[in-house]
Amino acid sequence: MSHVTCYKLPVTQQRLHILPAILIVDDSEVECALLKGILHKSFSAYEVLIAHHGREGLELLAQRDVDIVLSDMMMPVMNGWEFCEIIKKDPRTKDVPVLLFSSLEQVQEKAKGFEAGAADYIVKPIESGEVIARIKVHLGLKHYQDQLKDLNRELKEAQDALVQSEKMSAVGTLAAGISHEFNNVLAMMKGYIQLSQQKNKLDDVKPALAVMLDLVERGQFLVRSMLDFSKGGMSENKQKIVLAQIIDKVRVLMEPMFKAQGVQVELQGKSSCELQGYPNQLSQAIINFAKNGIEACEGRTEKKITIEFGKSLFDRVECAYIRVIDTGAGIPESIRKCIFDPFVTTKGVIAGGNRSTAGTGLGLTVSYNIIKKHHGEVKIEKTGSAGTTMLVTIPL
Ligand SMILES: Nc1ncnc2c1ncn2[C@@H]1O[C@H](COP(=O)(O)OP(=O)(O)OP(=O)(O)O)[C@@H](O)[C@H]1O
Ligand SMILES: [Mg+2]
Repeated sequence: MSHVTCYKLPVTQQRLHILPAILIVDDSEVECALLKGILHKSFSAYEVLIAHHGREGLELLAQRDVDIVLSDMMMPVMNGWEFCEIIKKDPRTKDVPVLLFSSLEQVQEKAKGFEAGAADYIVKPIESGEVIARIKVHLGLKHYQDQLKDLNRELKEAQDALVQSEKMSAVGTLAAGISHEFNNVLAMMKGYIQLSQQKNKLDDVKPALAVMLDLVERGQFLVRSMLDFSKGGMSENKQKIVLAQIIDKVRVLMEPMFKAQGVQVELQGKSSCELQGYPNQLSQAIINFAKNGIEACEGRTEKKITIEFGKSLFDRVECAYIRVIDTGAGIPESIRKCIFDPFVTTKGVIAGGNRSTAGTGLGLTVSYNIIKKHHGEVKIEKTGSAGTTMLVTIPL
């Protein structure tokens, strides 16, 4: 059948779809009139179009949408299955059902018709009841096929929109998380600048300058992380961490914050511990726990944060652990279950709290993600009116 490929559906600017339509293709005027008469009653909502050979049929199909094609098998210019093959090859018409008609003696051509993509085959002389029934079946099938296509398209659009909104929300949470950490860096920097302002001699300021340099590097790290994330990576390499060093650094960085709030700090290294991880991020996580501890101590008579760390067995797995213990007011019952979710906060006016500085509710989300990145766990070990203990465990 390769010789038919020289025929193509003519290209037109815009195909019309005004009324549903049935296309009859037959070189016999009598047959066309007979078929048109049969269709008239049962398909009055359809426009019936007539073409006298395949080429004319293709021209009509190029101009407008058609719901079903009824074509004779034996015709001049091109026969029924050649005509059908062209229709089925064109993406614009491939879903239009084609019903082929032929006389009994041409029945051996049936296979060719089905091979070319015909939906059905009707033997002449036609019997009106059979023709109507078959057309109804194929129009019904086409209708469901169209509906399915529409549903698929809508589903695809909904899926794309969902993926897009997930992406946007991931980027939004990340941006908010990095802003949160950046804000922490600036708050610690501010504390050190205020401390330095109280000194008279440059030598007294030098230790603070070293910490401020460290804080600036942290700020640069955060900005770099954001840029790297937008390129699909993360900037910090996994490396050996000495837990005691990280925790001591956290104490130094947060010193002005502790002082400003009158919170006493105690570090309790129970055993030496080294692990593989991301030092900047791990210290960020601990800062967030300690900062929450400081904030929970507001208005309390005893204001103390203890950071306990070392290595030990948890569920029979050897882990590095960090406990951040505060003597604060405890975590409100209502948020204990969702405390690591983004934007959960009880701080500030918006959240209905009474603190003047609003919280973003991202500190624990950021920390949770960092600990997960270390394949570790974080949980509220204890909380109540005597204070809170947050426990981090990272398998060694
Ligand atoms: N140690 C704690 N003691 C009492 N409540 C806590 C403690 N840690 C967390 N919470 C509660 O969990 C909420 C969520 O904490 P998270 O650190 O995620 O956000 P935030 O502290 O409110 O805001 P941000 O960290 O952005 O300043 C807090 O608002 C607070 O109610
Ligand atoms: Mg917080």
